[in-house]
Amino acid sequence: MKINTSLVVLLLIGLTSTVFAIRVGVINDLHLDPFYDPSVESDRDCRGLNPFKLKGLDSTNDLAPFGRYGCDVSPTLINILFAKLKELSGHIDVLLVSGDFTGHDIAAKRGKADENYIMLKSVISSCFAQYIDPSFSKTIIIPTIGNNDAKFHYEFPQTGEEADEYYGFLYDLWWNEIGANPEYSKKDEVKETFMKGGFYRYDHSDKISFLALNSLYWSEKNEKFSSGISHSQLDWLEEQLRDAEDSRQFIINMHIFPGMYNPGARQRFWLDEFTNRFDDIMLQYGHKVILFNGAHVHIADVRASWVEDYGSVQDLLKDERSTKRAYFANFVSPAISPVYLNNPGFSMFDIDEDKMKVHNITAHFLELDRTFQSKGHEVVFHSIDFAEEFGIDEWSPQTILDFMDRAQNDDELFKRFLILKLGFRLDQEEEALTVYENLNMIDFSNNNRIYWCFFQYMRAEDYDACVKG
Ligand SMILES: *[C@@H]1O[C@H](CO)[C@@H](O)[C@H](O)[C@H]1NC(C)=O
Repeated sequence: MKINTSLVVLLLIGLTSTVFAIRVGVINDLHLDPFYDPSVESDRDCRGLNPFKLKGLDSTNDLAPFGRYGCDVSPTLINILFAKLKELSGHIDVLLVSGDFTGHDIAAKRGKADENYIMLKSVISSCFAQYIDPSFSKTIIIPTIGNNDAKFHYEFPQTGEEADEYYGFLYDLWWNEIGANPEYSKKDEVKETFMKGGFYRYDHSDKISFLALNSLYWSEKNEKFSSGISHSQLDWLEEQLRDAEDSRQFIINMHIFPGMYNPGARQRFWLDEFTNRFDDIMLQYGHKVILFNGAHVHIADVRASWVEDYGSVQDLLKDERSTKRAYFANFVSPAISPVYLNNPGFSMFDIDEDKMKVHNITAHFLELDRTFQSKGHEVVFHSIDFAEEFGIDEWSPQTILDFMDRAQNDDELFKRFLILKLGFRLDQEEEALTVYENLNMIDFSNNNRIYWCFFQYMRAEDYDACVKG
């Protein structure tokens, strides 16, 4: 047989170039709601007859067969979004599923537990086995636990038996049943940390590892409970980064990220001692983290932390101005659930494993306003490319800080960012800004001070000092 050598060479080049890029998809805040009813209004949570709401249903004339602003997610919406993610990506190597798989109010308030817990687990199972697995059967799936995925809203398991039962259920679902996970060769290591506290490490190659953390152990909502895991999980994180080979880089994934927020009122996500410790770890080892992903707030975002860098002694003597050196950046991927009036979305990025850089950051949104019956049920998606829209060509703490400097000095760029990260079209500026105004999150008259404070200060005391000015 005659072999065309140039063709073989081309094929080999083609193969090697694909081997060194890792495509990552991110979905979070799925909030799958088995009770979603397309004919019920959002003030009734779009829920029809169900064990929790049995009375007083009104229906609406404008059917929302796919989803409605202010509500959680129907199986139909999940199917449409996953089909789009598959179509756009071609192939996904790793899928981050960053928590809050179940609709709101399924995780019970303490005291009325058992029926809700059975329901909760069945929703989590169907999320992964019925929707995620069939779409991404050859993909490694990296889930993290959200505040709506626990027996009691926000709470981590309080006893050894509760932990064994809950983490055992999730471990079995996530590592024995879905995607390419059952074939992972170091499942024993995953299981060891997972059974302790729902966190784990996945080594994609000898250069790239993913860490999935259980942020419920640090949540401010758990101040009344204490657990050794809150500290030991941070010890473990520090060890992973400290003891890794120099050539290894990490992607960190979790649901509730550390830091501050202000949708109308000051919110602190983690207890100070844990935020401060995490920040110290990033100050020291942030250079080993190529991307940090958090979820929870639903509206996509970016954040960056920095320190003053005075440069050399010579510069100091010459009275050169200090520069900001960024050491940590937080990517917040858009939510699937449109409950906070955002369009449902997901994101993707590529890791160049040769240069260890993250590129091609994109987010994709379903234009929900066009899917209502009155609008003819049109299914239209649009995409935003972070390089084109925001000049973020490569993900790094410094490129995010640079973006902030540009946006802070350019109200038009900042407005465009606000509209696009909500998943709205540029011609919907008024509607988009109204959403933020209703959330009390922007104040152009005061140069959006609060926004820029939570953008760059993770620690509560730094944030408060910034807001005071
Ligand atoms: C980014 O996307 C372009 C165009 O699809 C592709 O050629 C390139 O390899 C991608 N970069 C990485 C790091 O995968």
